[in-house]
Amino acid sequence: MSLQQQPKPVDSLPPHAPLTRYYGDGPDAERQRYVVDLFNKTARHYNTIERLLLNGGLWYRRSCLRRAGLGPGMRVLDVAIGTAAVARGAAQLVGPKGRVFGVDPTRGMLNEAKKVFHGPLTRGVAERLPFASDYFDFVTMGIALRHVSDLVATFREYHRVLKPGGTVWILEGHTPTSGIGRSVNRFMMGRVVPGMTLLFTRSRDAKLLMDFYWDTVEQSVPPDRILQAMTDVGFEGLQHRVVSPVCEYIGKKRAS
Ligand SMILES: C[S@@+](CC[C@H](N)C(=O)[O-])C[C@H]1O[C@@H](n2cnc3c(N)ncnc32)[C@H](O)[C@@H]1O
Repeated sequence: MSLQQQPKPVDSLPPHAPLTRYYGDGPDAERQRYVVDLFNKTARHYNTIERLLLNGGLWYRRSCLRRAGLGPGMRVLDVAIGTAAVARGAAQLVGPKGRVFGVDPTRGMLNEAKKVFHGPLTRGVAERLPFASDYFDFVTMGIALRHVSDLVATFREYHRVLKPGGTVWILEGHTPTSGIGRSVNRFMMGRVVPGMTLLFTRSRDAKLLMDFYWDTVEQSVPPDRILQAMTDVGFEGLQHRVVSPVCEYIGKKRAS
């Protein structure tokens, strides 16, 4: 992209177009309440959904983190810890000399995390992190970027809490650009996975969570806007790797 074509930095960027059929068209606080409420209602089913995918997601998250450079002795903040699918892998990689902190706004998810994760847990949102500046070697976020209210505020916070030279690693849902790839993905993630979720959990809320997952992924801002927002707040050495149906975003805070 030439300098002339580069978009101007924006002050805020919602992660996806409004999905009013889920939470109406009121202020963003209503969307946030809806998201937290949905995760509270479905927290006890989240690991069943992971098991439907043969827990491959746990292995995958850990191997991506290792490849991104997470290693022994590091201090990590896992944002949107959920049931600790990322944090468990991170804790194995940093070992006894490292430390993994978890943050999430949903009490139900934090309660599930406590069953399998023994690091410090805090209630909070990505857009306003309750942590000191220049404190973490790594900030991680698994499958939750679409739930924040503003990508720019979120990336500013990630940049603030990272030490100079620190790494941000984000795993997110991905929609292929080709017509056929998109159709296959839509069928699997938009139909098969919600259907299987209903069958195995017998919970309409858990199915709704997976419907919502697909709609937010499909309506998400494209990867180049996400990478641009990361650049705008100061991240360098950006990488974007796609292994459909997910993708990774990696960036570094400049070493001082
Ligand atoms: C799909 S779960 C992901 C859990 C886990 N990170 C993983 O990789 O499986 C999404 C999580 O995002 C959390 N969340 C929702 N809004 C958030 C926000 N604004 N900031 C941080 N986390 C948020 C939810 O409470 C939920 O636990």
